[in-house]
Amino acid sequence: MTRTVYSGDVSEAMPARYSVELRQVVKVYGEGPTAARVLDGVSFGFPRRTFTAVMGPSGSGKSTLLQCAAGLDRPSSGSVSIEGVELTALDEAALTRLRRDRLGFIFQSYNLVSTLTVAQNVTLPMEFASRPIPADAVRDMLARLGLEQYAQARPAALSGGQQQRVAIARALLGTPAVIFADEPTGALDSRAAADVLGLLRDAVDRAGRTIVMVTHDPVAAAVADAVVFFADGRVVEVLPQPTADAVAARMARLAGGFSQRAGVR
Ligand SMILES: Nc1ncnc2c1ncn2[C@@H]1O[C@H](COP(=O)(O)OP(=O)(O)OP(=O)(O)O)[C@@H](O)[C@H]1O
Ligand SMILES: [Mg+2]
Repeated sequence: MTRTVYSGDVSEAMPARYSVELRQVVKVYGEGPTAARVLDGVSFGFPRRTFTAVMGPSGSGKSTLLQCAAGLDRPSSGSVSIEGVELTALDEAALTRLRRDRLGFIFQSYNLVSTLTVAQNVTLPMEFASRPIPADAVRDMLARLGLEQYAQARPAALSGGQQQRVAIARALLGTPAVIFADEPTGALDSRAAADVLGLLRDAVDRAGRTIVMVTHDPVAAAVADAVVFFADGRVVEVLPQPTADAVAARMARLAGGFSQRAGVR
């Protein structure tokens, strides 16, 4: 398998090289003296068909980055493109369509609809898109995820790991070009987390998806092709071909930098 070399420098980008591209993305919450600049001019490209982990201290802006990159939130300034489509140029209806047709989302809180069955939950995006529901593909996906006997169950009857797998089935069945995942393994035990990470890895290696995953776990990050370290609303470092040990060491250094600075104040 060839691994894409990261430079992180969007100015070098060839048009088709990056699946998700951010240029000088700024996000400010609030106004006046209490305004918080949560994204501080982020320029970064996520190469096609790669799995990138995003790590950084709590509050550094990782979820905000994901929300802006995925078109769930609008940057205060700067631009984002997905598969060559400039998001800032789209109106709400077009943005919703792009999200529905090209993107998949996996959140720590699963976001399953409690009144629907597992089968209904995973086909909901197709339902919304008025697309035909491929019964065989749904069955296969649930079987691959060890959920075949739960198709008619409600989410409340499933464990956390099983619910997360339902959320993943839902994201993958939509055949998205890009999957954004915010701490998808945060609520899982290590065995369930390994299953979920294996599925995500497969989605890149076999199905050619692009994945951007926020995580706090060095073991999870080591499954990715590269780790982007984020601090104070900026990308501070990129680690290609990560190992769990190398990731943990970088995280410790980042955290050390924070406590030193806090001590000076
Ligand atoms: N809607 C909002 N309104 C105001 N401030 C916000 C909003 N969303 C996030 N913030 C602030 O932006 C900063 C970054 O938040 P964000 O959720 O992106 O961090 P994070 O890196 O994902 O943290 P964690 O690892 O704890 O999930 C925080 O200080 C947070 O309070
Ligand atoms: Mg977060």
